[in-house]
Amino acid sequence: MTGGYGTGADILHDCTLAVDKGEIAVIVGPNGAGKSTAMKAVFGMLNIHTGGVFLDGEDITSLTPQARVAKGMAFVPQTSNIFTSMTVEENLEMGAFLRRDDITGTMDQVYTLFPILRDKRRQAAGELSGGQRQQVAVGRALMTQPQVLMLDEPTAGVSPIVMDELFDRIIEVAKTGISILMVEQNARQALEIADTGYVLVQGRNAFTGTGAELLADPEVRKSFLGG
Ligand SMILES: Nc1ncnc2c1ncn2[C@@H]1O[C@H](COP(=O)(O)OP(=O)(O)O)[C@@H](O)[C@H]1O
Ligand SMILES: [Mg+2]
Repeated sequence: MTGGYGTGADILHDCTLAVDKGEIAVIVGPNGAGKSTAMKAVFGMLNIHTGGVFLDGEDITSLTPQARVAKGMAFVPQTSNIFTSMTVEENLEMGAFLRRDDITGTMDQVYTLFPILRDKRRQAAGELSGGQRQQVAVGRALMTQPQVLMLDEPTAGVSPIVMDELFDRIIEVAKTGISILMVEQNARQALEIADTGYVLVQGRNAFTGTGAELLADPEVRKSFLGG
């Protein structure tokens, strides 16, 4: 993917990302590297003038974000990813807005994955803790029964314990066959659970490998993992 916002300069330069079924791909890199931009590009929120986006081999480059959701993509953006004045359950219902079938089974799966959300289902999502809000955001995205779940910094602002728990839940989701494409600031911990890792720098792929390969790479360690 090569492109940027509107008529502005390119932010992404030949950026390539991929995730296989049921696997976890993690994107790390410095602030401003273009990680969120790459996620938005995959989801169809900005124009890429070179390159394309493929889902299960199908070229979806020209589809709107809503059409991509219908095809099986779900996206949890970095900011404003829940409706704070709505209840937890209303947030989950909003996630299912494209569905015309019975959503109670999926809602039950989300509540089984995140039991605290069942307890708080009548509470305004804005009243929840940071970690619980992120659970609402992930749960909302799961309501469309996606093939690919895209998460932009799902553990931003949460404690290390909550981060570990959220990563465990994400692993659980991947084990159900859903592919996870995730941006993470907690690079070391995220690469530990990654099948594939990407280091983005200035909109370009700087390093690509398995999570273990990147964790063992001296250059990656020195520049991006604090030694
Ligand atoms: N909506 C936008 N319009 C124009 N430029 C943007 C917008 N969002 C981000 N950028 C620019 O794109 C570059 C990459 O930002 P971003 O993708 O948010 O980086 P990261 O997520 O890696 O921190 C930055 O230079 C940023 O200023
Ligand atoms: Mg970002």
